[in-house]
Amino acid sequence: MGIRLGLVGLGAFGTQFAKLFKAHPSVDRVALCDCEAEKVNKFLHDPFMAGKVSEKDCYGTLDEISRADLDALVIITQPWLHAPQCIQALESGKHVYSAVPLISLPDDEETLDWCGKLIETVQRTGKQYMLGETTIYRPQTMFCRRMAAGGAFGEYVYAEGEYVHDVDGGINGGSNLRKVKEHRTQGVVGSQHAALMAKYHQRGVKGSPMSYPTHSVSGPIHVMQTRALKVSAYGTPNTNNDPFFAHDDFSNVSALFKLANGASLRIGEYREIGATSFDRDEPEIFRIFGKTGSFSRDVWQSNQRTAPGTAKPIMEDQPNPGNPQWPWAGFKRMTPAEMRDPLPLEVQQAFKAVCNPTADPHDDFQPTGHGGSHPYLVHEFVSSVLENRAPAIPVAEAVHYMAMGIAAHRSAQRDGEIICVPSFG
Ligand SMILES: NC(=O)c1ccc[n+]([C@@H]2O[C@H](COP(=O)([O-])OP(=O)(O)OC[C@H]3O[C@@H](n4cnc5c(N)ncnc54)[C@H](O)[C@@H]3O)[C@@H](O)[C@H]2O)c1
Repeated sequence: MGIRLGLVGLGAFGTQFAKLFKAHPSVDRVALCDCEAEKVNKFLHDPFMAGKVSEKDCYGTLDEISRADLDALVIITQPWLHAPQCIQALESGKHVYSAVPLISLPDDEETLDWCGKLIETVQRTGKQYMLGETTIYRPQTMFCRRMAAGGAFGEYVYAEGEYVHDVDGGINGGSNLRKVKEHRTQGVVGSQHAALMAKYHQRGVKGSPMSYPTHSVSGPIHVMQTRALKVSAYGTPNTNNDPFFAHDDFSNVSALFKLANGASLRIGEYREIGATSFDRDEPEIFRIFGKTGSFSRDVWQSNQRTAPGTAKPIMEDQPNPGNPQWPWAGFKRMTPAEMRDPLPLEVQQAFKAVCNPTADPHDDFQPTGHGGSHPYLVHEFVSSVLENRAPAIPVAEAVHYMAMGIAAHRSAQRDGEIICVPSFG
């Protein structure tokens, strides 16, 4: 028997997940919820959803769907709403999947409050919370997680993660942050945003890109399974009266964390910057260096040292001369397919209809969405509910990502003063 789940929020991002959840072989029933009825109707009347979606399973409010007989709710609503909505869903006896971040508010103290409340609710209700961080299921992260599990990095030395997303980026089809903000602050719920934010603005509370740090911090923290202890950070403010940054202390922040495993971690969150991460191919990517092995730009390097003096020359480690994709002869740049974990075959087959609708039946499955992460996030959440186990990105990790961003923002406000990262035990 499979699970019954409800999707709350069928906007731009929720729409990308609805068919994947429906297609998963371990999902028996899908309920739909959005306060804008046309968004629900679009999926109710889509032939692809037939068999698992019905009119009696369509809702217009979180209150209504929370009362339904479902095992789990998937919350993909606007980012300032997540934590209270997830708590309501957990209180109603459902496991919860939340789009990132845990919550996005200008007031760091309030964000920390929500972190504490969410942990307490998960512990008290015994229900699972999973953060849908796409970076965790990028091919690079899956590869590094396997190498880390086998101890191939050795002791960790240094890592870096960054999210380079200029406010005016995405002109050629990617995500333009001005347009995203305009879109999310329209409609039944979105139009309440200005009034909600006015309360913070009156108090002079200011945010920064570190209010939404999950894409940059999650990869290194998740792979190394460690936590950040303290940080020194610096920011650059907007200086040309751009209204997008009117309520931010900084439009860019760089932070250096000391980690519990002894390594250092440099994090960059950049929103006003004349660059993309083209040198790393993705806007959200990381590098990790250990005493034995390191990962950067889809290349694994290792000195294979097992004892003092036993290291081998790294250039000979992965000979691949003539690789047309890579200018550094001597190193093999892995393909996404080589880096990914495989999904179960029946799940791949089911997801092909969503991700690769024009593929031939014998073509390989090609995962799509943020580096191919979307089908993996769906499979992990469904599996964790089915198996009644903690998901891969549990609440403890989700709150730590937020705490790291808050500590970095505080440090940048104090010109790099060393700040301890709040701990939730
Ligand atoms: N890489 C990533 O992980 C990534 C990428 C894009 C978006 N996101 C996240 O996805 C979330 C959604 O983004 P979006 O662009 O789809 O926003 P959106 O505004 O298009 O959609 C949000 C939807 O939620 C609905 N909603 C809100 N509260 C509701 C309630 N109480 N009951 C019923 N419906 C409700 C709204 O009506 C709206 O349709 C954001 O929080 C964002 O941070 C993550």
